[in-house]
Amino acid sequence: NPPNLQMESSFGLRQVNCRAKGGSPGFKVAILGAAGGIGQPLALLMKMNPLVSVLHLYDVVNTPGVTADVSHMDTGAVVRGFLGQQQLEDALTGMDLVIIPAGVPRKPGMTRDDLFNINAGIVKTLCEGIAKCCPKAIVNLISNPVNSTVPIAAEVFKKAGTYDPKRLLGVTMLDVVRANTFVAEVLGLDPREVDVPVVGGHAGVTILPLLSQVKPSCSFTPKEIDYLTDRIQNGGTEVVEAKSGAGSATLSMAYAAVKFADACLRGLRGDAAVVQCAFVASQVTELPFFASKVHLGRNGVEEIFSLGPLNEYERAGLEKAKKELAGSIEKGVSFIKK
Ligand code: NAI
Repeated sequence: NPPNLQMESSFGLRQVNCRAKGGSPGFKVAILGAAGGIGQPLALLMKMNPLVSVLHLYDVVNTPGVTADVSHMDTGAVVRGFLGQQQLEDALTGMDLVIIPAGVPRKPGMTRDDLFNINAGIVKTLCEGIAKCCPKAIVNLISNPVNSTVPIAAEVFKKAGTYDPKRLLGVTMLDVVRANTFVAEVLGLDPREVDVPVVGGHAGVTILPLLSQVKPSCSFTPKEIDYLTDRIQNGGTEVVEAKSGAGSATLSMAYAAVKFADACLRGLRGDAAVVQCAFVASQVTELPFFASKVHLGRNGVEEIFSLGPLNEYERAGLEKAKKELAGSIEKGVSFIKK
């Protein structure tokens, strides 16, 4: 790893060097749902990532066009497109990282849980493919409801005998990205200087920003805390309503997905101190899955950090979050078990 690759060109077979610039290993990344609202800008941004040597774009529609388009970018990654279920296995074979934004998004008035019936089946099928073709890959699951789709993926991998909890991560990065932005606005800071831990899950009250642990250290009035907590928890709905029927967050989500995927790849490469929030199998609370800060390394999640000291407001929020999360996790587990 990384082996060289043979690509067909107009003048016969060509050797493609699968090392990233500077000689560091290049990684093979697949995006499942690559022709969608998130998938397309995500493909664009991953094609620009110097850690990626091979980029596989899979969807059930429109991947030839997206692939032709993105493949003309003069960056290092070799792009290949895969269309439809019969090409899923080829799309997945040999991948180091699989990012999944496949599935339907919300429309105004819908909760993430309303997506369960369609997206649960899609995630199941895609994870069966991963278990068969790249069981050691790190999986970044974006499809909603994340609080249920991550348990679904875990059950599929358990059934296949390939489950490694360190390698399955629900992407909650957009909640952190939003929290950093909104907190920076209130504090009058550059968002790049702000770090807000967001724990729990990825839906409504399960999204729990820990405003008492914001860096740089600061304090908020009770009014600011209410405003920020509400805006961070409902940031997704703010976008769904503004798009009035045309879908949910796609551009900020693609940005967040790439920020998170890049952290996973830097961890795989062996960089020190790569820490991000993610929804993972966890013993931080009594629930089997929970989002908190995790250390990303060569095997995926190397360490899960505890929540740290919470204030009274956050403790009350945690109780509410756990109650809702427990139901969403159970719903995912029983979808596969039944
Ligand atoms: P979209 O509808 O624009 O794109 C979804 C893509 O998935 C489409 O191209 C569709 O053809 C594809 N797809 C459907 N079934 C598939 C299958 N079996 N295999 C492969 N691809 C398949 O939706 P959008 O806006 O890109 O959202 C995708 C998902 O991401 C939704 O479930 C949405 O709720 C979720 N999401 C998650 C966020 C998070 O923070 N984790 C934030 C925003 C959205």
